[in-house]
Amino acid sequence: MAPTTQPVTVTVTGAGGQIGYALLFRIASGQLLGPDTPVRLNLLEIPLGLRAAEGTALELIDGAFPLLASVDVTDDAAAAFDGTNVALLVGARPRSAGMERADLLEANAAIFGPQGRAINEHAASDVRVLVVGNPANTNALIASAHAPDVPPERFTAMTRLDHNRAVAQLALKAEASVTDVDGVIVWGNHSATQYPDVSHATIGGRPALEVVDEAWCEEVFVPKVARRGAEIIEVRGASSAASAANAAIDHVYDWVNGTGDRWTSAGVTTSGPNAEAAASYGIPEGLVCSLPVRSQGGEWQVVTGLENSAVARAHIEASVAELIDEREAVRALSLLPG
Ligand code: NAD
Ligand code: LMR
Repeated sequence: MAPTTQPVTVTVTGAGGQIGYALLFRIASGQLLGPDTPVRLNLLEIPLGLRAAEGTALELIDGAFPLLASVDVTDDAAAAFDGTNVALLVGARPRSAGMERADLLEANAAIFGPQGRAINEHAASDVRVLVVGNPANTNALIASAHAPDVPPERFTAMTRLDHNRAVAQLALKAEASVTDVDGVIVWGNHSATQYPDVSHATIGGRPALEVVDEAWCEEVFVPKVARRGAEIIEVRGASSAASAANAAIDHVYDWVNGTGDRWTSAGVTTSGPNAEAAASYGIPEGLVCSLPVRSQGGEWQVVTGLENSAVARAHIEASVAELIDEREAVRALSLLPG
């Protein structure tokens, strides 16, 4: 049956890259927005990446996806973000072995000011933005700062991959299904300082800390999840791509369609409507920080009222301190207004 609703415009930057290739076919097949929503795909690349993106566009056409209303490739940000409802900012350099994601600040941060401005000027009024390109939290902050007419809470950074990694590692350890794991949280930065927290989690309805050992969590689980990106680079010889695309799909699908009572993790702005909730966990305004969130009515809402231990608070504080350092570093590079 032909789709009956109006197409939603989805812009993917870095469409000629690895994540782009793993992401675009899933969007075209309806996994980003649901099986009843047709999509218009706008692919943005730099001139060097245009041919690869054009090749991917040919393959998208060859997929004969019923939900794919159109696919356009451009190196012009104004055209790519024209009328966009969902913007996936993937295009940026990945790190290689031995680098931390923050080492990409200088190379990548300059991409996100102009893209934020183009979103401000050309996107649809309901635009939702997910920043994937690293360092994702600070890049999201830069993009938002250059889009003064877009509510800051519409800019998010991807920590869903970390969340999914945490769920999977916990399930492996407990010899349970990932569907039995609930209530995991990733706090802070998408970096090695992130805090994957199981203290509010359950496995098969039991508190996770009754099923797995607390020492294992602190000594094995936390570093394993926080350093999983580096492990992938070392083993695969390239940055994670399909799992990153999968997490981007999960993030946007949940944002648009709602999470119900379960929460997940997302990098959200700590200003505006989230400021009070972030402050209740000791996190200041003016950052994009991973927090426990539910999506209701198409908006991420920070889960409040969770009691954190002294250990958890120390981890969160360290990751927030790193976010503040990154913000000051991009301010020193004149990449943040003010
Ligand atoms: P890639 O090198 O395969 O592809 C990146 C693409 O972006 C290239 O085709 C390049 O031409 C394009 N590009 C560069 N600058 C651009 C610009 N200004 N506008 C549009 N396109 C541009 O890299 P990848 O593996 O697809 O990774 C992309 C980014 O995602 C990297 O920064 C990587 O570190 C990050 N990443 C983040 C997460 C996360 O969890 N947040 C997970 C995996 C990867
Ligand atoms: C990841 O977490 O896999 C990505 O952010 C890539 C990286 O640099 O680790």
